[in-house]
Amino acid sequence: MKKTLVAIALLLATAPPALAAPADPDTSIAVEGKRLYASQKFGCHRCHGPTGAEGGMGPSFTGIGKKYDQTALMERAAHNCPPTGACDPKQLGAIVAYLRTL
Ligand code: HEC
Repeated sequence: MKKTLVAIALLLATAPPALAAPADPDTSIAVEGKRLYASQKFGCHRCHGPTGAEGGMGPSFTGIGKKYDQTALMERAAHNCPPTGACDPKQLGAIVAYLRTL
């Protein structure tokens, strides 16, 4: 029992901060994703609307989390990334986490 506790404590201590954090990690990632969504760098809002829920020239993202699994959504979210791979996968992942909240 004691050994198990030590093992768990060690696991938590060595886990990435997002895993060890007591708060729901998805929430803070999605908040960051919302910021990135409308940032100058990504500019998704220019075509998908200010929040992504309303859409524009591009489709609305309402309910998109039910339409695609994580891999498919990551692929589609990258459609506007330059071919040089300028979209940081971590930042794109945060945007996808945000889109899933819509
Ligand atoms: C220049 C305009 C434009 C920009 C900027 C843009 N998109 Fe799009 N997006 C579109 C259009 C048009 C479509 C629909 C046609 C298609 O799938 O390519 C689309 C489709 C999508 C889809 C698939 C939606 C579905 O229901 O199948 C996702 C996901 C998406 N965009 C995410 C993003 C994200 C995330 C960004 C920012 C990193 C972004 N888009 C930036 C125009 C844009």
